[in-house]
Amino acid sequence: MENNRKAEAGVDRLFLDRWSPRAFDPAPLPNEVVRTLFEAAKWAPSCSNEQPWLFIYAITKKDHARFLDLLLPGNQIWAKNAPIIIFLFAHRRFETEGKPNDWSKFDSGAAWMSLAIQARLLGLYTHGMAGFHRDRVCAALGVPEEDYEPVCAIVAGRYGDKEALPERLKARETPSDRKPLADVAMEGRFK
Ligand SMILES: Cc1cc2nc3c(=O)[nH]c(=O)nc-3n(C[C@H](O)[C@H](O)[C@H](O)COP(=O)(O)O)c2cc1C
Repeated sequence: MENNRKAEAGVDRLFLDRWSPRAFDPAPLPNEVVRTLFEAAKWAPSCSNEQPWLFIYAITKKDHARFLDLLLPGNQIWAKNAPIIIFLFAHRRFETEGKPNDWSKFDSGAAWMSLAIQARLLGLYTHGMAGFHRDRVCAALGVPEEDYEPVCAIVAGRYGDKEALPERLKARETPSDRKPLADVAMEGRFK
């Protein structure tokens, strides 16, 4: 698949090869692969090692249909082909002290990135989504809303058939570029 990304500094190809496609192959993922994805996420760093992330996932046909229904229609149209749909939640408080955990979404983001990178190492792709029913997801999945905040929906799977995508999505099915390094990393002070 074509990938024209060019790095400005030496970086492992893995980082350029992680991108968010919409063409997924519906072939199921072996259970061991699913466990490996979450195992990678589990080892992410977190504030006070709270591990505030929670992944709830669908792999069976029945769960898949329930989870798909929680995505916004614009995402459903392509995410329906991915063999696993995941919702990521972040714990609202430090479990030990009960104080608000202002870093839990940051930490959950780190866990998602570990999952995304592990997916690539297994030849898989991931795609994160903010487009889901945040107001429905906790009740639908039995997650206590007073404890957990919905963060993101995620799909993973092997790359599928780009030609099967609607025209408008097919045109966007290519790795995106990035801002220049100088715009996001500044030495000493804001420039
Ligand atoms: C938190 C988050 C929310 C996103 N929401 C959506 C979404 O609802 N629908 C979608 O098609 N892509 C979504 N994306 C994918 C981004 O558009 C994509 O990651 C970004 O354009 C960078 O491209 P790349 O991941 O291919 O490198 C989301 C990504 C993240 C991290």
